[in-house]
Amino acid sequence: MMALAFFGPELVNNEEFCQALLDHPQDMVKSMGAFQITPKFLAPFVHAIITKGGKAMHTMLRYTTPLFSQDKTNPVLGKHCIAQSMVELNPDPSYWTPAMLAQAILGIWFAAAHQPWMNLDFITLELSRRPDYVQELLREIGDPSLLNYSDVEGLSRLDSFVKEAVRTNSLDALAIRRKALRPFTFSHGGPHVKEGELACVSLYDAMHDEGTYSNPNHFDGWRFVKTASRFTDVSEKYPVWGFGSLACPGRFHASLMIKMVLVHLISGFDFRIEDEKVATQWKWEPFTMPFESTRVQFRRRDI
Ligand code: HEM
Repeated sequence: MMALAFFGPELVNNEEFCQALLDHPQDMVKSMGAFQITPKFLAPFVHAIITKGGKAMHTMLRYTTPLFSQDKTNPVLGKHCIAQSMVELNPDPSYWTPAMLAQAILGIWFAAAHQPWMNLDFITLELSRRPDYVQELLREIGDPSLLNYSDVEGLSRLDSFVKEAVRTNSLDALAIRRKALRPFTFSHGGPHVKEGELACVSLYDAMHDEGTYSNPNHFDGWRFVKTASRFTDVSEKYPVWGFGSLACPGRFHASLMIKMVLVHLISGFDFRIEDEKVATQWKWEPFTMPFESTRVQFRRRDI
């Protein structure tokens, strides 16, 4: 689904390209892990071994660079695809060389390729455990074939459920990572940060602050209906999108994608976790990750 929005229908049907799209983020995450213990001079070798000489990245660039060399209004790119929007944002045509555009798109691809889907996994699991919520969401959705994009975004109960499921299942325990470019002391007397050090916020604590969320350890799917705040709102009380000028620019896209999948699932299927006793999450550093082995059974409702 994400690849279709990024690269259009032709490339999405290319098996080699799609495999590279899946491999590239994994290569990056593995390299990031390895670099933490690798001496700097060995980093290029370790990178080459992990990524098999950058195989996935080169495959992606091989397919995308010629695509971006074509006339920018070419239907292969598509009027509404992300590359086209980027070209339109910067009117200087010399800036977007095909190689530059391909690289930029791959960077955004990395940002987009993991978060929405891991969050969707957690939200689907929460829904599988809560049939009462599913019934109410079914009523709110009504006939899904009548909904356009803004209708989907306007479903306030769905928005609240998604926001609460993400609040209680944060992928990352930390947020708003910032590197000190010079020695820095917070004006309210917080810790001193040396040059080159990272400062960040505890996402977990912000999301479980009793001053903001009454009964914070309790799952209340309609919590945000009462406050009229939206999933995509950027706030220091809900820093899942980061904060300030660097806050996630893809959040509207992510929110819509997640909700489109949920509307489809909720309106068409009964679903439940195959085995309730099996663990569905594992931890790596500050991250909580889904297990690939988790199975959810979907049963079409009209059968
Ligand atoms: C549920 C899904 C997503 C979550 C939770 C998420 C979260 C984040 C966070 C926490 C940041 C760092 C912000 C900061 O440091 O203040 C970020 C940055 C970014 N995200 Fe997302 N993201 C999601 C989906 C997406 C998608 C779908 C796209 C692209 C279509 C995207 C594109 C980006 C980009 C380009 C940046 C870097 C922004 C910059 O440095 O100026 N994200 N995201």
